[in-house]
Amino acid sequence: MDQVNLAIVGCGGMGRRHLTGLAELAESDFACVTLRAVCDLNVQNAEDLADEAAGLLGQRPRVFLSVAEMARETEDLDGADVTVDTGVHHRVATECLDLGLHVQCEKPLALTIRGCKQVLTAAERAGRVLSVAENYRRDPMNRLVKALLDDGAIGTPRLMVETGIGGGNRIVITPWRHQKRSGTIVLDAGVHNADILQYYLGTVREAYGEAKIFEKVRYRGGTSGPGGFYEKWAATMPEQVEATGEDTLFAYLKFTSGATGQWLDSHAGHGQSRSERALWGSVGSLVAPGDRNGRPVRLFREGRELSGEAVLGYAPSYRLEPAAAALFGGERVAGYTFPFPVTDRKLLALEYYEFAQCIRGERVPEVSGEVALRDVALVYAIIESGVAGRAVTLEEIVDSQVDAYQRELDEALGLV
Ligand SMILES: NC(=O)c1ccc[n+]([C@@H]2O[C@H](COP(=O)([O-])OP(=O)(O)OC[C@H]3O[C@@H](n4cnc5c(N)ncnc54)[C@H](O)[C@@H]3O)[C@@H](O)[C@H]2O)c1
Repeated sequence: MDQVNLAIVGCGGMGRRHLTGLAELAESDFACVTLRAVCDLNVQNAEDLADEAAGLLGQRPRVFLSVAEMARETEDLDGADVTVDTGVHHRVATECLDLGLHVQCEKPLALTIRGCKQVLTAAERAGRVLSVAENYRRDPMNRLVKALLDDGAIGTPRLMVETGIGGGNRIVITPWRHQKRSGTIVLDAGVHNADILQYYLGTVREAYGEAKIFEKVRYRGGTSGPGGFYEKWAATMPEQVEATGEDTLFAYLKFTSGATGQWLDSHAGHGQSRSERALWGSVGSLVAPGDRNGRPVRLFREGRELSGEAVLGYAPSYRLEPAAAALFGGERVAGYTFPFPVTDRKLLALEYYEFAQCIRGERVPEVSGEVALRDVALVYAIIESGVAGRAVTLEEIVDSQVDAYQRELDEALGLV
């Protein structure tokens, strides 16, 4: 299989996680990516990632502090995997596309809708692939839920409840996730849920809701982050940060399909934490296990509860693509029990594999710039609804007709 040559741009926690995804892919029958370069403004982060890559991949990528120099000096570089922090996605992704590189960009595509559009325009202008790394929907359990819904296991979907409450007043992974200017947590994490809601049930037409900052000061808590990937920066984690970005979303959603959604996302929940993803339809209901835990899907219909293998009969169309089937142990897996870092790297390997296929012209990205823009738009529909004091349509957000909350960001970023 033809190799594609990539660079990782952004060597923080997610850059490190992406590297493990590359290693997972390299060890599989689907190996097709060579890591030629890494780039970061922080030389230590870049050098460390290059060292880790040498250990994991057997070859040390070149280290750069600037994307322009990297593109100029790395022969046959096909694409960049952009894992910089959210507030600069639009700038770095646009620069890579303008330099002629294909881009895989971490979610959210950009900090604002105008930022997303800037990246989309750059991809169109350059005629290059733009793929957004949205890992949650690639979880086999989310593929199974999607097939159950499409195959009518609960009849016509009527209601979806998506709830995540927890976090208290601790800093969630990094301080920048609590600053409006750099991509606050309800956007940075919430965009995953926005993607799942629209992956399951199609596009949202209208949202009514609000966002809040309950915790004005956040305190240092666990410093290792998901999978322990952030531990090496523990010494630089401040004792506390003042939060300028929202930590909670409350929303009522109307989907174009006619279904209704209720979404609660709070990273300021004290006491009992809660996580629920459930759907009700015209003949039954289901409970999805959430993301990256491999727990079984539960289906309730005809007075019975079915779970695990027993639900597969209601999802005849469920079939993982070959690379996913190879990594997760079968085309129609009903569960898995890998530890989190293993699951995480398998999903990231699948993102890289799809990106390589897109670069070779064999397919188009599943999470294209347009899909990712609508995910960002769903989060902003809720925030902007709270500011406007009324329900807003997704189209009003996509067209930037309603943008009072984002305007300050767009002005700061030079996007208006
Ligand atoms: N899909 C997921 O599950 C998931 C999980 C965590 C993070 N993420 C996403 O990954 C991205 C990075 O998050 P993180 O936690 O790794 O952040 P981080 O702060 O740990 O790392 C960001 C890195 O980017 C570098 N950087 C910033 N500006 C740069 C520039 N102009 N050029 C080169 N390097 C630059 C920083 O120096 C830093 O090393 C975010 O967009 C986040 O939303 C996704």
